[in-house]
Amino acid sequence: MNTYTITILDTGETYRCREDRNLLEGMEALGRRGIPVGCRNGGCGVCKVHIVRGTFTKRVMSRDHVTEEEEAAGTVLACRVKPTSDVTLAVTGKMKDAVCGTGDTRATASSTP
Ligand code: FES
Repeated sequence: MNTYTITILDTGETYRCREDRNLLEGMEALGRRGIPVGCRNGGCGVCKVHIVRGTFTKRVMSRDHVTEEEEAAGTVLACRVKPTSDVTLAVTGKMKDAVCGTGDTRATASSTP
């Protein structure tokens, strides 16, 4: 069983995620308050992230939340994605406020051109 390091670009935080766990489960294990847990099933869209680096496997995602173009560009629903390498992700959508929050002065890496 492999375990990979997941880096949240927005905050610089990292967490470990087993290859049989999806990225949202790993993030929840981080114990970060305010991580919105929605349907965990690819249907609600709260867990939308952008994969900046790394490889992963993914399952079917609702086109209401991730368009084909977005998916092709690396935007996925974290609850539908399992890592197959170390992954760097950027939080997008509704989760961003919870993850980056207020008062976290390290959240400056998100403005990379
Ligand atoms: S938790 Fe609902 S789409 Fe991921």
